[in-house]
Amino acid sequence: MKTDIRNRKDIEKLVNTFYNKVKTDAVIGYLFTEVARVNWEEHLPKMYDFWENILFCTANYNGNPMMKHKELHQKSTMTAEHFAHWTTLFTATVDKLFEGPKAEEIKNRAMNIASLMMYKTLN
Ligand code: HEM
Repeated sequence: MKTDIRNRKDIEKLVNTFYNKVKTDAVIGYLFTEVARVNWEEHLPKMYDFWENILFCTANYNGNPMMKHKELHQKSTMTAEHFAHWTTLFTATVDKLFEGPKAEEIKNRAMNIASLMMYKTLN
């Protein structure tokens, strides 16, 4: 039985599952592992904070994601395909693990942020 996303623990499960897929993904994996050489111990808690703030208004994230992705794009060109693929992977991960209003909300927010981020990054 799937539940909705109820708390930070559920967000941790979603984020961990998502980035486990991302790390070895043929389309976008290299941007994390080779271009940015992400320190996962720092990145994952940031992502828990980011999504917890979006779903539960915890006000515990105060980074600047738009800037980070612009920098990444300068190191290695990103494309619309990268963003579309990120969104497909994220949506599939949510659907595999959860169902309910918060699950719908996080997918919608992810899609909206991804399209804004793509616009700001590529232009
Ligand atoms: C092709 C799509 C994307 C790629 C390749 C990508 C890659 C990355 C990388 C390499 C970082 C930096 C990690 C580090 O600190 O070393 C990062 C940070 C981050 N990304 Fe993405 N990202 C993508 C799309 C998105 C989308 C759509 C969102 C939001 C819906 C997002 C949210 C974030 C956030 C919140 C951070 C942390 C920024 C901070 O340091 O505060 N990313 N991303």
